[in-house]
Amino acid sequence: MTIAERISDSLIDRLSDKTLLQTDSFVDGAWMSGERRFDVSNPADNSVIASVGDVGEAGAHQAVAAAARAFETWKKVSPFQRAALLMKWHKLILENLDDLAAILTTEMGKTLTEAKGEILYGAGFIEWSAEEGKRIMGETLTPPFPNSRGWTLHQPIGVVACITPWNFPNAMITRKCAPALAAGCTMVIKPAPETPLSALALAELAKRAGIPDGVFNVVCGDAQKIGPVLTGSSEVRMIGFTGSTPVGKLLMRQAADGVKRVALELGGNAPFIVMDDADLDAAADGVVASKFRVSGQTCVSANRIIAQPAIADALIEKLKERVDALKPGNGFEAGSDLGPLIHHEAVERVDALVRSARDSGANIIAGGAPLVDELGGAFYAPTLIEGGSPDMDLACFEIFGPVASVYRVESEADIVKLANDTPYGLAAYIYTRDINRVHRLSEALEYGMVGVNAPMVGSFSSPFGGMKESGIGREGGKWGVEEFTELKWVILGGIDQ
Ligand code: SIN
Repeated sequence: MTIAERISDSLIDRLSDKTLLQTDSFVDGAWMSGERRFDVSNPADNSVIASVGDVGEAGAHQAVAAAARAFETWKKVSPFQRAALLMKWHKLILENLDDLAAILTTEMGKTLTEAKGEILYGAGFIEWSAEEGKRIMGETLTPPFPNSRGWTLHQPIGVVACITPWNFPNAMITRKCAPALAAGCTMVIKPAPETPLSALALAELAKRAGIPDGVFNVVCGDAQKIGPVLTGSSEVRMIGFTGSTPVGKLLMRQAADGVKRVALELGGNAPFIVMDDADLDAAADGVVASKFRVSGQTCVSANRIIAQPAIADALIEKLKERVDALKPGNGFEAGSDLGPLIHHEAVERVDALVRSARDSGANIIAGGAPLVDELGGAFYAPTLIEGGSPDMDLACFEIFGPVASVYRVESEADIVKLANDTPYGLAAYIYTRDINRVHRLSEALEYGMVGVNAPMVGSFSSPFGGMKESGIGREGGKWGVEEFTELKWVILGGIDQ
């Protein structure tokens, strides 16, 4: 089968550089076809867009072996040379922005504007990490022994295997592999089966940038077969994962046998707190930005909008205007604000949460139903709910869909109690103009990231990650680079004084 036979014409026709479309895994600098193939679909219309090879356990073993071989030389390459190669990759990504965004929208569904934003977000991690890799520094210390000196080194941890999600098929790869490569690690990426094409396009550009064979590998296929190879291999020193908390726990258990480092970015249940002194227009804009970005399919999406009763009605009115104005549609159509959900099971899961909220007495103010028949793909209407109880499923589980639900809570103490009453601790948002509240609330919230009058918490320069069951470790900024290093202490004795 040629590549053209494995990819739908509709996707091929959209691209200026058709060689970005790869359908085999990328191992040791070469394309590796699999034992069997699986279909990738466009969630906007359910059409099959590609048939991708599944390399299975054998391919995963080969990728780990290639990464282990490559580590022996890559760790010795100067950070300046590593940065130069990363910057070539960065340049190629920017030059191919439109094509990468078209691939992303086709396989994942988000709008073209969101897809372009994601490619730029993802490229930012490469640029930042390339620079930061030059500044990995140790310290000199004074040991408590005579005639001695001591210093610390940060050395690359080794081969890193990362399992990446479908909601950000580009940026969640670069957010992991750019700091890892900059620090001198080599990588095996296992992309989500829903969105392998973005990962393979990144591999094609890494190859063109001259990143040496074996340094960056992408293995596609069945997670049940590939995952245990990655977590079980003694050559893999670290497992990175973005995805659900249950899968994160499973990977952590599997990694425990080899005492591997884990970096886990898991589920969330973000409170979006609107205090009675807030700028309500800014707060309503913030809810829309946080809640409806990628149709609510981000782990930092506002999940519970907690408003003080004095402003709750006014906030709901402003939210209704904004939610009514949102237009769901195919991500390629001009004017579409929201793409589809990733697949029909996601539509059913979100709808079950909404129906159960309605059954328990909540009011549906906007939306509240699938748009599968109307729009032809995995679409769900932008939805606004109020009057539900904070212990209903909609408030306790991560919605991962375009559903905003408002809860009224009076006192600051009860707001904090409710916000923290969840096993999750990823992102929280506060809208207030009172500086005392800013400090009190941001310190009291058990979350890894707090947006104050700000609906976006992720960036290449800041630490992204969660507390409690939302994960371990931080991605982004200098912390994201340090995660991929081992701290070594060296003591030198017997110095003639
Ligand atoms: C995610 O949903 O996993 C990432 C969201 C972000 O980086 O903003």
